[in-house]
Amino acid sequence: MTRTIPVVDYDRAAHEPALYAFTAKVLGKEVADRRARVLSSFHERMPGRERGPLRHILLDGDRVAGTLGYLPVDFLVNGVRVPSRFTHDLLIDPEYRGGGLAKLIVAHQRSLGGFLPGGMWMTDPCWKIHLACGFDDVAPLGTQTLVLDAGAFVRQRKLPALKALAARVGLTAAAMRAKNGAAAIVRRGGSDVTAVERFDPAHDAAWLAMASGYGATRVRDAAFLNWKYTQHPFLDYRRLVAMRDGKPAGFLVWRPAPAGASEPRAVIPDYLVAKGDMATFRLLVARAVVDAAAARVPSLAILTTQSAARESLRTMGFLNSRTPNTWVVAGWQGILQPEWLKDHDAWHAVLGDSDGDIWVGSM
Ligand SMILES: CC(C)(COP(=O)(O)OP(=O)(O)OC[C@H]1O[C@@H](n2cnc3c(N)ncnc32)[C@H](O)[C@@H]1OP(=O)(O)O)[C@@H](O)C(=O)NCCC(=O)NCCS
Repeated sequence: MTRTIPVVDYDRAAHEPALYAFTAKVLGKEVADRRARVLSSFHERMPGRERGPLRHILLDGDRVAGTLGYLPVDFLVNGVRVPSRFTHDLLIDPEYRGGGLAKLIVAHQRSLGGFLPGGMWMTDPCWKIHLACGFDDVAPLGTQTLVLDAGAFVRQRKLPALKALAARVGLTAAAMRAKNGAAAIVRRGGSDVTAVERFDPAHDAAWLAMASGYGATRVRDAAFLNWKYTQHPFLDYRRLVAMRDGKPAGFLVWRPAPAGASEPRAVIPDYLVAKGDMATFRLLVARAVVDAAAARVPSLAILTTQSAARESLRTMGFLNSRTPNTWVVAGWQGILQPEWLKDHDAWHAVLGDSDGDIWVGSM
Protein backbone atom coordinates (compact mmCIF):
# COMPACT_ATOMS: atom_id res chain seq x y z
CA MET A 1 0.00 0.00 0.00
CA THR A 2 1.30 3.40 -0.87
CA ARG A 3 -0.84 5.34 1.59
CA THR A 4 -1.51 4.64 5.23
CA ILE A 5 -5.22 4.88 5.89
CA PRO A 6 -6.09 4.53 9.56
CA VAL A 7 -8.76 2.21 10.97
CA VAL A 8 -10.99 4.38 13.17
CA ASP A 9 -13.78 3.51 15.64
CA TYR A 10 -17.05 4.62 14.04
CA ASP A 11 -18.62 7.47 15.98
CA ARG A 12 -22.12 7.99 14.65
CA ALA A 13 -22.33 11.66 15.61
CA ALA A 14 -19.07 12.49 13.83
CA HIS A 15 -18.99 10.04 10.91
CA GLU A 16 -22.58 9.39 9.81
CA PRO A 17 -22.57 11.86 6.86
CA ALA A 18 -19.22 10.52 5.57
CA LEU A 19 -20.43 6.90 5.89
CA TYR A 20 -23.63 7.78 4.02
CA ALA A 21 -21.65 9.54 1.23
CA PHE A 22 -19.41 6.45 0.93
CA THR A 23 -22.37 4.05 0.76
CA ALA A 24 -24.19 6.22 -1.79
CA LYS A 25 -21.03 6.37 -3.94
CA VAL A 26 -20.40 2.59 -3.82
CA LEU A 27 -23.97 1.22 -3.82
CA GLY A 28 -26.12 4.11 -5.08
CA LYS A 29 -28.40 6.56 -3.25
CA GLU A 30 -31.47 4.32 -3.11
CA VAL A 31 -29.57 1.49 -1.44
CA ALA A 32 -27.77 3.95 0.86
CA ASP A 33 -31.15 5.31 2.01
CA ARG A 34 -32.41 1.81 2.81
CA ARG A 35 -29.17 0.91 4.56
CA ALA A 36 -29.33 4.10 6.63
CA ARG A 37 -32.66 2.87 8.02
CA VAL A 38 -31.14 -0.52 8.92
CA LEU A 39 -28.10 1.18 10.49
CA SER A 40 -30.40 3.36 12.61
CA SER A 41 -31.99 0.19 13.96
CA PHE A 42 -28.54 -0.97 15.17
CA HIS A 43 -27.63 2.32 16.81
CA GLU A 44 -31.02 3.14 18.31
CA ARG A 45 -32.64 -0.17 19.22
CA MET A 46 -30.32 -3.22 19.01
CA PRO A 47 -29.71 -4.96 22.35
CA GLY A 48 -25.96 -4.80 23.10
CA ARG A 49 -25.51 -1.56 21.14
CA GLU A 50 -23.66 -0.10 24.12
CA ARG A 51 -20.85 -2.58 23.39
CA GLY A 52 -19.28 -0.27 20.82
CA PRO A 53 -17.79 0.46 18.49
CA LEU A 54 -20.42 -1.09 16.22
CA ARG A 55 -18.15 -0.61 13.23
CA HIS A 56 -14.74 0.50 12.11
CA ILE A 57 -14.11 2.78 9.17
CA LEU A 58 -11.03 3.41 7.05
CA LEU A 59 -10.73 7.19 7.10
CA ASP A 60 -8.81 8.91 4.31
CA GLY A 61 -8.86 12.50 5.51
CA ASP A 62 -12.58 13.09 6.00
CA ARG A 63 -13.55 10.49 3.43
CA VAL A 64 -14.60 6.91 4.26
CA ALA A 65 -12.68 4.40 2.08
CA GLY A 66 -14.13 1.24 3.62
CA THR A 67 -15.92 -0.22 6.59
CA LEU A 68 -16.54 -3.36 8.65
CA GLY A 69 -19.42 -3.72 11.11
CA TYR A 70 -19.90 -5.83 14.25
CA LEU A 71 -23.00 -7.23 15.83
CA PRO A 72 -22.63 -7.79 19.56
CA VAL A 73 -24.33 -11.02 20.54
CA ASP A 74 -24.28 -13.48 23.43
CA PHE A 75 -23.43 -17.07 22.66
CA LEU A 76 -24.21 -20.03 24.86
CA VAL A 77 -21.35 -22.54 24.76
CA ASN A 78 -21.92 -25.71 26.78
CA GLY A 79 -24.53 -23.73 28.69
CA VAL A 80 -22.16 -20.87 29.55
CA ARG A 81 -22.88 -17.37 28.26
CA VAL A 82 -20.02 -15.97 26.16
CA PRO A 83 -20.22 -12.33 25.00
CA SER A 84 -19.11 -12.26 21.37
CA ARG A 85 -19.54 -10.35 18.14
CA PHE A 86 -20.20 -11.23 14.52
CA THR A 87 -18.21 -9.40 11.84
CA HIS A 88 -20.43 -8.20 9.01
CA ASP A 89 -20.89 -5.66 6.26
CA LEU A 90 -17.34 -5.52 4.81
CA LEU A 91 -17.24 -2.97 2.00
CA ILE A 92 -14.34 -1.15 0.35
CA ASP A 93 -14.65 1.76 -2.11
CA PRO A 94 -13.76 0.37 -5.60
CA GLU A 95 -11.20 3.18 -5.99
CA TYR A 96 -9.29 1.74 -3.06
CA ARG A 97 -9.69 -2.00 -3.78
CA GLY A 98 -6.72 -4.33 -4.29
CA GLY A 99 -4.54 -2.40 -1.85
CA GLY A 100 -5.00 -4.60 1.19
CA LEU A 101 -7.57 -2.39 2.96
CA ALA A 102 -10.07 -5.20 3.52
CA LYS A 103 -7.35 -7.29 5.12
CA LEU A 104 -6.28 -4.32 7.23
CA ILE A 105 -9.72 -3.70 8.69
CA VAL A 106 -10.54 -7.41 9.28
CA ALA A 107 -7.10 -7.98 10.87
CA HIS A 108 -7.67 -4.97 13.11
CA GLN A 109 -10.92 -6.45 14.42
CA ARG A 110 -9.26 -9.82 14.92
CA SER A 111 -6.40 -8.20 16.89
CA LEU A 112 -8.92 -6.86 19.43
CA GLY A 113 -9.44 -10.44 20.65
CA GLY A 114 -12.54 -12.12 21.97
CA PHE A 115 -14.74 -14.86 20.53
CA LEU A 116 -15.86 -14.14 16.96
CA PRO A 117 -18.43 -16.79 15.94
CA GLY A 118 -18.62 -15.44 12.32
CA GLY A 119 -18.66 -14.03 9.53
CA MET A 120 -21.26 -16.43 8.43
CA TRP A 121 -22.69 -17.07 5.01
CA MET A 122 -20.25 -14.70 3.32
CA THR A 123 -19.07 -14.05 -0.24
CA ASP A 124 -16.03 -15.92 -1.52
CA PRO A 125 -13.62 -12.92 -1.44
CA CYS A 126 -14.80 -12.03 2.06
CA TRP A 127 -14.25 -15.62 3.21
CA LYS A 128 -10.68 -15.65 1.80
CA ILE A 129 -9.91 -12.33 3.49
CA HIS A 130 -11.13 -13.62 6.87
CA LEU A 131 -9.01 -16.79 6.52
CA ALA A 132 -5.96 -14.69 5.59
CA CYS A 133 -6.55 -12.66 8.78
CA GLY A 134 -6.47 -15.68 11.10
CA PHE A 135 -10.09 -16.83 11.12
CA ASP A 136 -10.63 -20.60 10.89
CA ASP A 137 -13.02 -22.38 8.63
CA VAL A 138 -16.10 -24.16 9.91
CA ALA A 139 -17.20 -26.84 7.42
CA PRO A 140 -19.54 -25.15 4.91
CA LEU A 141 -23.24 -25.86 5.05
CA GLY A 142 -25.98 -25.80 2.40
CA THR A 143 -29.49 -24.41 2.60
CA GLN A 144 -32.56 -26.53 1.88
CA THR A 145 -35.35 -25.24 -0.33
CA LEU A 146 -38.97 -26.26 -0.77
CA VAL A 147 -40.51 -25.35 -4.11
CA LEU A 148 -44.12 -24.25 -3.62
CA ASP A 149 -44.93 -22.75 -7.02
CA ALA A 150 -43.09 -24.77 -9.66
CA GLY A 151 -44.00 -22.42 -12.54
CA ALA A 152 -42.63 -19.30 -10.83
CA PHE A 153 -39.58 -21.17 -9.53
CA VAL A 154 -38.67 -22.51 -12.99
CA ARG A 155 -39.29 -19.12 -14.68
CA GLN A 156 -36.81 -17.47 -12.29
CA ARG A 157 -34.12 -19.96 -13.29
CA LYS A 158 -34.45 -19.24 -17.05
CA LEU A 159 -33.80 -22.89 -18.06
CA PRO A 160 -33.85 -24.04 -21.72
CA ALA A 161 -37.43 -24.89 -22.83
CA LEU A 162 -37.28 -28.70 -22.57
CA LYS A 163 -35.47 -28.70 -19.23
CA ALA A 164 -37.93 -26.10 -17.95
CA LEU A 165 -40.88 -28.29 -18.94
CA ALA A 166 -39.43 -31.41 -17.27
CA ALA A 167 -38.51 -29.47 -14.13
CA ARG A 168 -41.96 -27.92 -13.99
CA VAL A 169 -43.78 -31.26 -14.24
CA GLY A 170 -41.59 -32.92 -11.58
CA LEU A 171 -41.62 -29.96 -9.21
CA THR A 172 -45.39 -29.40 -9.53
CA ALA A 173 -46.10 -32.93 -8.32
CA ALA A 174 -43.51 -32.62 -5.53
CA ALA A 175 -44.90 -29.24 -4.44
CA MET A 176 -48.42 -30.67 -4.27
CA ARG A 177 -47.22 -33.60 -2.13
CA ALA A 178 -45.28 -31.26 0.16
CA LYS A 179 -48.23 -28.87 0.63
CA ASN A 180 -50.63 -31.74 1.34
CA GLY A 181 -48.12 -33.29 3.76
CA ALA A 182 -47.65 -30.00 5.62
CA ALA A 183 -51.42 -29.43 5.80
CA ALA A 184 -51.86 -32.91 7.31
CA ILE A 185 -49.21 -32.24 9.98
CA VAL A 186 -50.90 -28.93 10.84
CA ARG A 187 -54.34 -30.62 11.01
CA ARG A 188 -52.99 -33.11 13.54
CA GLY A 189 -51.10 -30.68 15.81
CA GLY A 190 -51.60 -27.18 14.48
CA SER A 191 -53.63 -25.91 17.44
CA ASP A 192 -50.36 -25.91 19.43
CA VAL A 193 -48.87 -23.26 17.12
CA THR A 194 -49.82 -19.59 17.26
CA ALA A 195 -48.77 -16.65 15.10
CA VAL A 196 -47.63 -13.91 17.50
CA GLU A 197 -47.07 -10.18 17.11
CA ARG A 198 -44.18 -10.13 19.56
CA PHE A 199 -42.08 -12.58 21.53
CA ASP A 200 -42.98 -12.74 25.21
CA PRO A 201 -40.17 -12.11 27.76
CA ALA A 202 -41.95 -14.66 29.99
CA HIS A 203 -40.60 -17.33 27.60
CA ASP A 204 -36.95 -16.25 27.90
CA ALA A 205 -36.07 -18.87 30.52
CA ALA A 206 -37.54 -21.64 28.36
CA TRP A 207 -35.58 -20.47 25.28
CA LEU A 208 -32.39 -20.33 27.36
CA ALA A 209 -32.92 -23.86 28.72
CA MET A 210 -33.50 -25.14 25.16
CA ALA A 211 -30.39 -23.36 23.87
CA SER A 212 -28.32 -25.01 26.63
CA GLY A 213 -28.99 -28.38 25.00
CA TYR A 214 -26.74 -27.44 22.06
CA GLY A 215 -22.94 -27.18 22.18
CA ALA A 216 -22.91 -23.64 20.79
CA THR A 217 -25.73 -21.33 19.82
CA ARG A 218 -26.78 -17.69 19.98
CA VAL A 219 -28.84 -16.62 23.00
CA ARG A 220 -32.36 -15.79 21.92
CA ASP A 221 -34.43 -13.69 24.29
CA ALA A 222 -37.46 -11.55 23.62
CA ALA A 223 -35.38 -8.34 23.55
CA PHE A 224 -33.17 -9.73 20.79
CA LEU A 225 -35.94 -11.51 18.88
CA ASN A 226 -38.26 -8.50 18.95
CA TRP A 227 -35.47 -6.19 17.80
CA LYS A 228 -34.48 -8.48 14.97
CA TYR A 229 -37.84 -9.88 13.87
CA THR A 230 -40.49 -7.29 14.74
CA GLN A 231 -38.71 -3.96 14.16
CA HIS A 232 -36.86 -4.40 10.88
CA PRO A 233 -37.47 -1.29 8.74
CA PHE A 234 -38.87 -3.20 5.75
CA LEU A 235 -38.68 -7.00 6.13
CA ASP A 236 -42.03 -8.47 7.08
CA TYR A 237 -41.20 -11.29 9.48
CA ARG A 238 -43.86 -13.76 10.67
CA ARG A 239 -43.42 -15.32 14.10
CA LEU A 240 -44.79 -18.72 15.16
CA VAL A 241 -44.68 -20.05 18.73
CA ALA A 242 -45.43 -23.69 19.64
CA MET A 243 -46.77 -24.50 23.11
CA ARG A 244 -47.10 -27.93 24.70
CA ASP A 245 -48.92 -28.51 28.01
CA GLY A 246 -49.01 -24.74 28.50
CA LYS A 247 -45.23 -24.39 28.13
CA PRO A 248 -43.19 -22.97 25.23
CA ALA A 249 -41.93 -25.83 23.02
CA GLY A 250 -40.32 -23.83 20.21
CA PHE A 251 -40.56 -20.93 17.82
CA LEU A 252 -39.92 -20.27 14.15
CA VAL A 253 -39.56 -17.07 12.14
CA TRP A 254 -40.17 -16.86 8.40
CA ARG A 255 -40.60 -14.00 5.96
CA PRO A 256 -41.65 -13.52 2.35
CA ALA A 257 -39.23 -11.72 0.02
CA PRO A 258 -39.31 -7.92 0.19
CA ALA A 259 -41.19 -6.14 -2.62
CA GLY A 260 -39.18 -5.99 -5.84
CA ALA A 261 -36.63 -8.66 -4.80
CA SER A 262 -34.80 -10.21 -7.75
CA GLU A 263 -35.36 -13.70 -6.32
CA PRO A 264 -38.69 -13.74 -4.50
CA ARG A 265 -37.93 -16.68 -2.23
CA ALA A 266 -39.17 -16.77 1.33
CA VAL A 267 -36.76 -17.81 4.08
CA ILE A 268 -36.85 -19.24 7.58
CA PRO A 269 -34.05 -17.21 9.20
CA ASP A 270 -34.55 -18.55 12.73
CA TYR A 271 -36.06 -21.29 14.84
CA LEU A 272 -35.47 -22.94 18.19
CA VAL A 273 -36.67 -26.25 19.60
CA ALA A 274 -35.12 -28.53 22.23
CA LYS A 275 -32.29 -30.50 20.65
CA GLY A 276 -33.79 -33.53 18.91
CA ASP A 277 -37.42 -32.41 19.31
CA MET A 278 -38.28 -33.08 15.69
CA ALA A 279 -42.04 -33.30 16.39
CA THR A 280 -42.15 -29.61 17.32
CA PHE A 281 -39.73 -28.72 14.51
CA ARG A 282 -41.92 -30.46 11.90
CA LEU A 283 -45.03 -28.82 13.25
CA LEU A 284 -43.51 -25.33 13.08
CA VAL A 285 -42.08 -25.89 9.59
CA ALA A 286 -45.38 -27.38 8.38
CA ARG A 287 -47.28 -24.31 9.61
CA ALA A 288 -44.74 -22.03 7.88
CA VAL A 289 -45.20 -24.05 4.66
CA VAL A 290 -48.99 -23.75 4.88
CA ASP A 291 -48.76 -19.99 5.56
CA ALA A 292 -46.14 -19.44 2.83
CA ALA A 293 -48.24 -21.37 0.29
CA ALA A 294 -51.28 -19.24 1.23
CA ALA A 295 -49.12 -16.13 0.70
CA ARG A 296 -48.23 -17.55 -2.76
CA VAL A 297 -44.46 -17.46 -2.28
CA PRO A 298 -42.62 -19.52 -4.94
CA SER A 299 -40.15 -21.21 -2.58
CA LEU A 300 -39.09 -21.38 1.05
CA ALA A 301 -35.45 -21.79 2.14
CA ILE A 302 -33.94 -22.78 5.49
CA LEU A 303 -30.49 -23.52 6.86
CA THR A 304 -29.93 -25.73 9.88
CA THR A 305 -26.83 -27.29 11.44
CA GLN A 306 -28.89 -30.13 12.96
CA SER A 307 -28.71 -33.33 10.90
CA ALA A 308 -32.01 -34.63 12.34
CA ALA A 309 -33.70 -31.42 11.22
CA ARG A 310 -32.18 -31.72 7.74
CA GLU A 311 -33.52 -35.27 7.49
CA SER A 312 -36.97 -34.08 8.62
CA LEU A 313 -36.89 -31.35 6.00
CA ARG A 314 -35.95 -33.88 3.31
CA THR A 315 -38.97 -36.01 4.17
CA MET A 316 -41.12 -32.87 3.93
CA GLY A 317 -39.94 -32.24 0.36
CA PHE A 318 -37.09 -29.76 0.88
CA LEU A 319 -34.21 -30.11 -1.61
CA ASN A 320 -30.51 -29.64 -0.79
CA SER A 321 -28.84 -26.69 -2.48
CA ARG A 322 -25.64 -27.42 -4.37
CA THR A 323 -23.77 -24.33 -3.18
CA PRO A 324 -22.75 -24.46 0.45
CA ASN A 325 -22.41 -21.35 2.59
CA THR A 326 -18.99 -20.54 4.00
CA TRP A 327 -18.55 -19.75 7.66
CA VAL A 328 -15.53 -18.74 9.74
CA VAL A 329 -14.77 -18.36 13.46
CA ALA A 330 -11.92 -16.78 15.45
CA GLY A 331 -10.84 -16.55 19.05
CA TRP A 332 -12.54 -19.90 19.66
CA GLN A 333 -9.61 -21.72 21.30
CA GLY A 334 -10.50 -22.65 24.87
CA ILE A 335 -14.18 -21.93 24.11
CA LEU A 336 -15.23 -24.39 21.39
CA GLN A 337 -14.05 -27.98 21.12
CA PRO A 338 -11.76 -28.25 18.05
CA GLU A 339 -13.91 -30.99 16.49
CA TRP A 340 -16.88 -28.56 16.41
CA LEU A 341 -15.23 -26.86 13.43
CA LYS A 342 -16.26 -29.96 11.47
CA ASP A 343 -19.27 -31.15 13.48
CA HIS A 344 -22.33 -29.12 12.57
CA ASP A 345 -24.49 -31.05 15.03
CA ALA A 346 -22.70 -29.42 17.97
CA TRP A 347 -24.13 -26.07 16.78
CA HIS A 348 -27.54 -24.65 16.43
CA ALA A 349 -26.88 -22.07 13.71
CA VAL A 350 -29.41 -20.63 11.27
CA LEU A 351 -29.61 -18.27 8.29
CA GLY A 352 -30.45 -15.33 10.56
CA ASP A 353 -27.17 -15.63 12.46
CA SER A 354 -24.55 -12.98 11.82
CA ASP A 355 -26.08 -10.34 9.54
CA GLY A 356 -27.76 -13.00 7.40
CA ASP A 357 -31.05 -11.42 6.35
CA ILE A 358 -30.54 -7.97 7.85
CA TRP A 359 -29.42 -6.41 4.56
CA VAL A 360 -31.85 -8.25 2.28
CA GLY A 361 -33.48 -5.59 0.12
CA SER A 362 -30.62 -3.13 0.67
CA MET A 363 -27.69 -4.69 -1.19
C1 LIG B 1 -14.25 -7.98 -1.16
C2 LIG B 1 -13.66 -6.60 -0.87
C3 LIG B 1 -14.06 -6.19 0.55
C4 LIG B 1 -12.12 -6.69 -0.98
O1 LIG B 1 -11.55 -5.42 -0.65
P1 LIG B 1 -10.02 -5.11 -0.99
O2 LIG B 1 -9.58 -3.95 -0.17
O3 LIG B 1 -9.86 -5.00 -2.45
O4 LIG B 1 -9.31 -6.44 -0.51
P2 LIG B 1 -7.76 -6.58 -0.19
O5 LIG B 1 -6.99 -5.70 -1.10
O6 LIG B 1 -7.51 -6.44 1.27
O7 LIG B 1 -7.58 -8.06 -0.65
C5 LIG B 1 -7.49 -9.11 0.24
C6 LIG B 1 -7.44 -10.41 -0.54
O8 LIG B 1 -8.70 -10.70 -1.14
C7 LIG B 1 -8.55 -10.93 -2.52
N1 LIG B 1 -9.71 -10.36 -3.21
C8 LIG B 1 -10.13 -9.10 -3.13
N2 LIG B 1 -11.23 -8.96 -3.93
C9 LIG B 1 -11.46 -10.15 -4.50
C10 LIG B 1 -12.42 -10.66 -5.43
N3 LIG B 1 -13.40 -9.87 -5.90
N4 LIG B 1 -12.36 -11.95 -5.78
C11 LIG B 1 -11.40 -12.78 -5.29
N5 LIG B 1 -10.46 -12.36 -4.41
C12 LIG B 1 -10.49 -11.07 -4.03
C13 LIG B 1 -7.29 -10.16 -2.90
O9 LIG B 1 -6.73 -10.72 -4.07
C14 LIG B 1 -6.42 -10.36 -1.69
O10 LIG B 1 -5.83 -11.63 -1.69
P3 LIG B 1 -4.21 -11.76 -1.81
O11 LIG B 1 -3.68 -10.98 -0.64
O12 LIG B 1 -4.01 -13.22 -1.70
O13 LIG B 1 -3.90 -11.16 -3.12
C15 LIG B 1 -14.13 -5.52 -1.88
O14 LIG B 1 -13.89 -6.00 -3.18
C16 LIG B 1 -15.60 -5.16 -1.75
O15 LIG B 1 -15.94 -4.22 -1.03
N6 LIG B 1 -16.47 -5.92 -2.45
C17 LIG B 1 -17.89 -5.71 -2.44
C18 LIG B 1 -18.51 -6.03 -1.10
C19 LIG B 1 -18.30 -7.46 -0.64
O16 LIG B 1 -18.27 -8.40 -1.40
N7 LIG B 1 -18.17 -7.58 0.69
C20 LIG B 1 -18.12 -8.83 1.35
C21 LIG B 1 -19.48 -9.11 1.91
S1 LIG B 1 -19.49 -10.60 2.86
